[in-house]
Amino acid sequence: MPPDLGLAEVELLGRELGEALRPGEVVWLEGELGAGKTTLVQSIASGLGVAEFATSPTYNLVHRYEGRRGPVFHVDCYRLRVPDEAAELGWERLALADAVLIEWPHRAGAWALPPTRRIRLAHTTDPDRRRVEVIAS
Ligand SMILES: Nc1ncnc2c1ncn2[C@@H]1O[C@H](COP(=O)(O)OP(=O)(O)O)[C@@H](O)[C@H]1O
Ligand SMILES: [Mg+2]
Repeated sequence: MPPDLGLAEVELLGRELGEALRPGEVVWLEGELGAGKTTLVQSIASGLGVAEFATSPTYNLVHRYEGRRGPVFHVDCYRLRVPDEAAELGWERLALADAVLIEWPHRAGAWALPPTRRIRLAHTTDPDRRRVEVIAS
């Protein structure tokens, strides 16, 4: 059973993962609303050298950041109603990324880039702790 992690531990895990990622990796983040996906994406991005992460709400599904080695993309597929809407996302430009971090990848169906790593997050009975499973693909 993986231990449940508090916010600071999730952030540390994310930073360490971000530092460990090899160029071109694709990370899927799975879990329901509020499970901590965006929080973890932010920490992973920080580990990749992204200095400023926009957490403000926006209608863009794809966010591009500048990391230490190159562009880091955050793709949030939550607002896709059907997978084919993902056709408009501009996946081609993600080919040059240092890392692609995808929330709600299943909503993009076959459009989602195949993951090199998958992370599953879940709520626990403690509102401040999350169950975190890292799955190497
Ligand atoms: N252990 C934890 N790990 C991650 N987030 C946590 C944790 N405890 C509390 N939170 C809070 O839960 C919320 C998670 O929101 P968010 O990361 O946007 O989730 P998601 O993207 O999965 O919908 C944030 O407000 C975060 O501060
Ligand atoms: Mg989110």
